[in-house]
Amino acid sequence: MNVRPDFSKSANMAETAPAFLSVYDMHSYYGESYIVQGVSFNVHEGEILALLGRNGAGKTTTLRSIARLDDPQVNQGEIWLDHQPLHLMKAHQASIAGLGLVPEDRRIIPGLTVEENLQLAQIAPPIGWSLDRLYDLFPRLGERRKQEGITLSGGEQQMLAIARALARDIKVLLLDEPYEGLAPVIVDEIEKTLRHVKEQGMTTVIVEQNAVRALQLADRAVILDTGSIVFDGTAAEVLENEALRSEYLAI
Ligand SMILES: Nc1ncnc2c1ncn2[C@@H]1O[C@H](COP(=O)(O)OP(=O)(O)OP(=O)(O)O)[C@@H](O)[C@H]1O
Ligand SMILES: [Mg+2]
Repeated sequence: MNVRPDFSKSANMAETAPAFLSVYDMHSYYGESYIVQGVSFNVHEGEILALLGRNGAGKTTTLRSIARLDDPQVNQGEIWLDHQPLHLMKAHQASIAGLGLVPEDRRIIPGLTVEENLQLAQIAPPIGWSLDRLYDLFPRLGERRKQEGITLSGGEQQMLAIARALARDIKVLLLDEPYEGLAPVIVDEIEKTLRHVKEQGMTTVIVEQNAVRALQLADRAVILDTGSIVFDGTAAEVLENEALRSEYLAI
């Protein structure tokens, strides 16, 4: 069994509780472009972390690096999920290790119904939430289970993308801009389900341009600016700190 964390030398890791997901001194590149420039942060089991920052700050690149996708290349650093070294894994291994990424474009598979999209996620272990449990969480998906996934509304497609991640037995849910393009009433609905998922013990990282909504949901926040972390603290601290919000979040 691999067990490493407790990177006590990192400035961002003052908390005493052991982290569930630890990113330590991660550096990522797209070809020659140096994007994530030595990022370290912790996510504790059962918490929601908001990963925020302006356009181009490196949020998506950070999530893709953690998920071990081919692009970007992570040239240095460590990523640990529940004592497993993700930095030594390929994307499919990270997925089996419990990483559930919901990408910004949702990736609903054309030609498949809602239910088939979910069943496809459960084709191989580790299997997570049952279809019944997912339809309890998202009743709209249950009502539309025979409908082709890509004909759903944007909000429903986002729900399907989240449900599909939960259909596998994941340890951490990484959400890239789940509220993008959605009406406030749909954002309310998704926020409510994310709270429910947290109550079931899930650990979540949410990237959002809608920083206020993300901060209302999150326990803690990390702010990125040009590939470096400029803040690591509670969500309440960010909401109370006008200078920080206007400098890095434009809110
Ligand atoms: N495939 C790529 N190839 C080269 N550079 C890229 C690629 N994807 C992103 N970048 C660059 O990396 C930097 C960080 O991009 P990233 O998408 O991680 O930012 P972000 O914080 O998610 O921004 P946004 O809020 O716009 O989604 C930007 O300068 C971007 O232009
Ligand atoms: Mg992005």
